[in-house]
Amino acid sequence: MSNKIYPVDADYAATTRVTRAQYEALYQESVTDPEGFWARTAQRIDWIKPFSQVKDVSFAADDLHIRWFADGELNVSANCLDRHLATRGDKTAIVFEGDDPADSRHISYRQLYEDVCRAANLLRNLGIRKGDRVAIYLPMIPEAAVAMLACARIGAVHSVVFGGFSPDSLAGRIADSQCKLVITADEGLRGGKKVALKANVDEALTRPGTTSVETVLVVRRTGAPIAMQTPRDRWWAGLVEEQSAECAPEPVNAEDPLFILYTSGSTGMPKGVLHTSGGYLTYVSYTHECVFDLREDDVYWCTADVGWVTGHSYVVYGPLANGATTVMFEGVPNWPDISRFWRVVDKHKVTIFYTAPTAIRALMREGEEPVRRTSRASIRLLGTVGEPINPEAWEWYHRVVGDGRCPIVDTWWQTETGGALITPLPGATDTKPGSATKPFFGVIPAIVDTNGVVQEGACEGNLILTDSWPGQMRTVYGDHKRFVDTYFRTYPGAYFTGDGARRDADGYYWITGRVDDVINVSGHRIGTAEVESALVSHPKVAEAAVVGCPHDIKGQGIYAYVTLKAGENGSDELRKELVHWVRKEIGPIASPDYLQWAPGLPKTRSGKIMRRILRKIAENATDQLGDTSTLADPGVVQNLVDQRLIRS
Ligand code: WTA
Repeated sequence: MSNKIYPVDADYAATTRVTRAQYEALYQESVTDPEGFWARTAQRIDWIKPFSQVKDVSFAADDLHIRWFADGELNVSANCLDRHLATRGDKTAIVFEGDDPADSRHISYRQLYEDVCRAANLLRNLGIRKGDRVAIYLPMIPEAAVAMLACARIGAVHSVVFGGFSPDSLAGRIADSQCKLVITADEGLRGGKKVALKANVDEALTRPGTTSVETVLVVRRTGAPIAMQTPRDRWWAGLVEEQSAECAPEPVNAEDPLFILYTSGSTGMPKGVLHTSGGYLTYVSYTHECVFDLREDDVYWCTADVGWVTGHSYVVYGPLANGATTVMFEGVPNWPDISRFWRVVDKHKVTIFYTAPTAIRALMREGEEPVRRTSRASIRLLGTVGEPINPEAWEWYHRVVGDGRCPIVDTWWQTETGGALITPLPGATDTKPGSATKPFFGVIPAIVDTNGVVQEGACEGNLILTDSWPGQMRTVYGDHKRFVDTYFRTYPGAYFTGDGARRDADGYYWITGRVDDVINVSGHRIGTAEVESALVSHPKVAEAAVVGCPHDIKGQGIYAYVTLKAGENGSDELRKELVHWVRKEIGPIASPDYLQWAPGLPKTRSGKIMRRILRKIAENATDQLGDTSTLADPGVVQNLVDQRLIRS
């Protein structure tokens, strides 16, 4: 914890959209009169049919429902495009910066509008109707945004799958939501390396449960030769060109689904987080404007991939709903060299830069020179998201990247929350390195102890939210019971975040990380159960237990304990094979950092694995193992301690 306070910058205080006094007043209004507050705020978007109802919410597990602006109608793509044409037709909507630094271009709002209309007409001509699910498995190229907005234009529901996921992961997601169409590319390109996206789709579509897919649209990205199956596979470019550049937007209800995005949880396979249209768009556009103190001439760059929620809310929907210029970056921070981020900033005169702590830590390790050799004079505001930021990385980001002159907004939120919930506002909130600071308008956080008793004042415990906000997820696709059970049963009447938090005497929140069986690796969520299930699907593995461990760059690493079948030998070669196996089953982001052979796992007499003990061993905190006497075989612990892979 850091005790340092960075007061609000004087320039921001003078010019900001939200001053400290306004924040206090608006926050009070938003929690005492949420109906009035959000009815007014929702006027920022265009409604085809105005709403008369504002908030209709119950967090009671036996009567759970979350509805916002429920009788209103709108179209999300028209809000992101059509309404800007009169005043911002020639303004750049998307700055595309390719993996290759020589490859970049600007797409105006008018051009984007026409591209989206053509793509929407194409989807309609291919038989996609309102409510149908479309999988998008693309690199970070403008077509990804076009595909998302084209779905929104006709009321189809997109499910973007991160291009780093394996064919099996893709297949599971396609099968769960029964997608009718997949949009992919021949190959992806990241850091000079090619990713065989189309080949992955081909493999995914051989898996059971994926016969719902009728068409695969293929964007040409690298031009590599690929197999095309007729009549299933079609080239995007040729078909899109034939379409009209006008497409009437489909009116959808505020509570009609906009997208499904799969995310890892404590148990089982990833959940299809479902977001709807009116509340989501209101929330992401409003947070984007306030948190980044948006101005008309900003060049805003969020480095997230559209495969994650940050890419949905703060690369595509929030910025475009606000008529902003948003940068889409296909590459990685360290290619062709370690100054890439800052070169892109200088090239496009980026004013707002939003990235993940893991990237900051990785760049920090390379020293100041690769940053200092660039100007970065255009930047006025920095942001972070995805995982707790250690004060040392925060200070470096502020001092080196921001030359000590740019405020930092550390935004805490989740796939489930749609947009930022705990965050500073640059003109209103003094910041403390490592703290996400204060709740956004309408957000009521509370900290509870393990018995669910709400704590007052300075305290530490589990983080819950006691009332709804418009950007909240509405259900788990196809499994409403799982939604209720996962988020609303632990602390009745409240949404449980799965995070731990501390609140200091000034009312500032400090997120301490996940308290469930989710590991946050480089800002990406991985369920321990998913990695375990990948490991035990290997023919030589009898049993596996996976926990998180501290990792200097990634924040958390993946530590796997593996028990082999009788007669198998724990060799280095097999260890490599298993790591590779997990990469292949899930994707590179799930690769175990440590894999320890475990002749036995610590279990209770009823057979439950005691993860608490495994976590302590992985953290190298073997003096804090606690009571091991209730274990079925306390002897296994000593072996695991002796053989642990992280040493002091
Ligand atoms: C963590 C990403 C600390 C947290 C938007 C949360 C953070 C999970 C922060 C959600 C932050 C996200 N400080 N922790 N500023 N932002 N987290 O669903 O544990 O990919 O529950 O959403 O990331 O990850 P998700």
